[in-house]
Amino acid sequence: MLNIALIVGSTRPNRFADKPKDWIVEGAKARTDFTLEVLDLRDFKLPFFEEPLPPAFAKGVFTNPAAKAWGARIATADGFIALTPEYHHAMSAVLKNAFESAYNEWMNKPIAFVGYGGVGAARAVENGRTVAIELQMAPIQRAVHIGLEPFLGVIREGRTLESYDHLNQARTALFDQLMWWAKALKAARAATGG
Ligand SMILES: Cc1cc2nc3c(=O)[nH]c(=O)nc-3n(C[C@H](O)[C@H](O)[C@H](O)COP(=O)(O)O)c2cc1C
Repeated sequence: MLNIALIVGSTRPNRFADKPKDWIVEGAKARTDFTLEVLDLRDFKLPFFEEPLPPAFAKGVFTNPAAKAWGARIATADGFIALTPEYHHAMSAVLKNAFESAYNEWMNKPIAFVGYGGVGAARAVENGRTVAIELQMAPIQRAVHIGLEPFLGVIREGRTLESYDHLNQARTALFDQLMWWAKALKAARAATGG
């Protein structure tokens, strides 16, 4: 059984993020190939990056206790689902800071993105993928883009994300592809010592 971490990338009060978070958790209950752990950035109180050295120069060693605690949780995951809003055509600042607050622990692991907003957070997801590459991760092709229609359907009409078939199908495809990469990269890490 593999461990997948769902990172909740909005911390603001009244966030929409709880709807897709619950919907991803619900979808994962049907899976027998991984367990899903929710890492809510509200719970970690990460400072804005303030290490004396860039992570690559420090060999991924962090001094800040909150960053160390965050890295310890990232270390236990075999893969990630990052849930991101789109703020000014990019991922949220808290999510970007969370990426910056660990280093070695991300390496050689797959990551998938679930985004929501006017254009399904397409730009935030692309932004997340390039950041993930720089952290030596493997961002996957499958993603869930919760576009304007379901976004407003949930907010204004009280619909559930579960009621949108195309989103449920995208969620399954994301889980399947993430697991392919998580298994492959776990074996590769074991074979190469990391
Ligand atoms: C600072 C800020 C910037 C935003 N920029 C965008 C944007 O570039 N594209 C977009 O589709 N929505 C944008 N929005 C609207 C968000 O999609 C919407 O507020 C969403 O609910 C944010 O996610 P959250 O509620 O989980 O924090 C922005 C919202 C905020 C607060």
